[in-house]
Amino acid sequence: MLLHVPEVLTADELASCRQRLAQAPWADGRVTAGHQSALAKHNLQLPEDAVEARELGAMVLEALARNTTFFAGALPRHIFPPLFNCYRGGGSFGLHVDNAIRYDRRGGQGIPVRTDLSATLFLNDPQEYDGGGLIIEDTFGTHTVKLAAGDMILYPSSSLHQVEPVTRGERLASFFWIQSLVRDEQQRRMLLELDVSIQSLTQSHAPHSDVLRLTGIYHNLLRAWSET
Ligand code: NI
Repeated sequence: MLLHVPEVLTADELASCRQRLAQAPWADGRVTAGHQSALAKHNLQLPEDAVEARELGAMVLEALARNTTFFAGALPRHIFPPLFNCYRGGGSFGLHVDNAIRYDRRGGQGIPVRTDLSATLFLNDPQEYDGGGLIIEDTFGTHTVKLAAGDMILYPSSSLHQVEPVTRGERLASFFWIQSLVRDEQQRRMLLELDVSIQSLTQSHAPHSDVLRLTGIYHNLLRAWSET
């Protein structure tokens, strides 16, 4: 399932992010790539320990914490610290699959994070660059994603994906991975659909006892399927 999460960042947050990134110490993106994907990766990235990456990453995490769509869709167990990249001058990232495990090295020893979901948060508008579409292959076909500044796409980390060459301007994004409380993608999708239906029934003033029963089913499924 691909989930579009609109307006993750406010206009003010985007502006300060862009300002910080314009001064930031960009480095070769291959430093965080696995062996296989390093061959395909041609972009710039902020080093994980750069002060800009840490502070802007904290801002993204705060934005995610107030986003109910993100929570309902991802059911996050562990969010890898957000990273930042820039594609320009023909930069691209060929077809690859993300590493299954990432090590979150905040606080010393690396904590293993299973990558259930991959996230790309777009930091500038598609009109500012040509190319740069995120192409994701899933069981329903191939999708090309280019979203407005501040919007985010969540997609299964198991999918093959690539970023098309950027032939004009530059494409700025934050990217990270999520280990979900619910490992199985279909179970996550059903929980999201149930959650959205309950919200909608609540808003249309459906009988309280019916909403309550469905809410109980949601929590009992989450209890059965989650791992903490
Ligand atoms: Ni990737």
